[in-house]
Amino acid sequence: MQTVNVAVMGHGVVGSGVVEVLLSHDKSIAVKAKSNINVKYILDLRDFPGLDYSDRFIKDFDLILKDDSIKVVVEVMGGIHPAYDYVKACLEAGKSVCTSNKELVAAYGAELLKIAGEKNVNFLFEASVGGGIPVLRPIAQCLAANDLYEVFGILNGTTNFILTKMIKDNMSFDDALALAQQLGYAERNPSADVDGHDTCRKICILASLCFGKHVYPEQVRTEGITKITLSDVEYADIAGYVIKLIGYSKLLDDGKITADVYPALVAKNNQLAGVDDVFNAVMVRGDAVGDVLFYGRGAGKLPTASAVVADVIDCVKHLQARKYLSWDCGFEDYVVDSKTVKTRLYVRAEVDDTLDAKANIFGIFDDAEFIIAGKDNNEVAFITPAGVEAELKEKIASIKQLRNISVLHVLD
Ligand code: HSE
Repeated sequence: MQTVNVAVMGHGVVGSGVVEVLLSHDKSIAVKAKSNINVKYILDLRDFPGLDYSDRFIKDFDLILKDDSIKVVVEVMGGIHPAYDYVKACLEAGKSVCTSNKELVAAYGAELLKIAGEKNVNFLFEASVGGGIPVLRPIAQCLAANDLYEVFGILNGTTNFILTKMIKDNMSFDDALALAQQLGYAERNPSADVDGHDTCRKICILASLCFGKHVYPEQVRTEGITKITLSDVEYADIAGYVIKLIGYSKLLDDGKITADVYPALVAKNNQLAGVDDVFNAVMVRGDAVGDVLFYGRGAGKLPTASAVVADVIDCVKHLQARKYLSWDCGFEDYVVDSKTVKTRLYVRAEVDDTLDAKANIFGIFDDAEFIIAGKDNNEVAFITPAGVEAELKEKIASIKQLRNISVLHVLD
């Protein structure tokens, strides 16, 4: 059996998991890849003495680039630089690349896929969305017969873990975040998780793949979970909803799309409502297949390594062929302003006089759905009827009695 040399760039949570899985599963992987896979180099600026494979660490990227025996490179460093420069150089040198780096794919996916195509090598990134959930390959291959028109889901394990711990275990936001970091779920800078940027990158990748044109993070309206209060959680619960951070994208009739990241009220009978802890779920809607839901662990060392190593095996199996995964470049007006799209909104606000405020709210929204929490705290909470978001927001702003207004989407 032939041996294929691979290099792993980055030995953090995911990188160490990739090396661990490749070494511990070497025999069964060799059968599936029809080749032995040898981890020849591990690139990291840090030292890792005392490991069984400490002798494989290098600090110089050029050793990988110039070594013709390295056919597949795993990039699990994260961030844009130097990841982009290294990945591009590897592809241009005729090496296949597998990455879990959603920031990289969301920013440069179309360009890197094009280079991979020109060089007849593979650029695979299954782990960049949904951690260990197989979702990108099934969308690209198994759903290829469909015109896909909607994709959305819970795409960030850390925020889902935090929200679940806050709701079910009454844990504070800070304690839940610290635990997510300890478990290896959170990004190096947890703002990427809690401010929604990680979900934004993942919906960019999903929308690019589903609808065929690159969606850039700057085109996606992004809101995180930091403004969610336990009061919102309680009102949502009373009204029959849970709050989840959602990445959402939809194809419109004119060929453009919407793409958003927001915390939303999700009805308890919606399949996404039961997706808790570090789990993610991605709903894809196609004209032939209908609804397809992908579910599994969205973050963590071994679930993510599972997806990366599967890509490595695929690359090794296809050293002489290409996986046809690609999309075109995007354009400036491709993503429309979602404020022009119909939605329902949840509103919570402070008021001086609850009865007076309610009368005024009914004057503006005659079928508003009030949420009665049974607490006397000069606060009102209600759900608007469906309407164009910008118009709903104008109407809400016109209700003079409302102060410190908090608005969330309702996922319908
Ligand atoms: N920080 C990410 C998450 C890691 O929590 O989902 C996996 O992409």
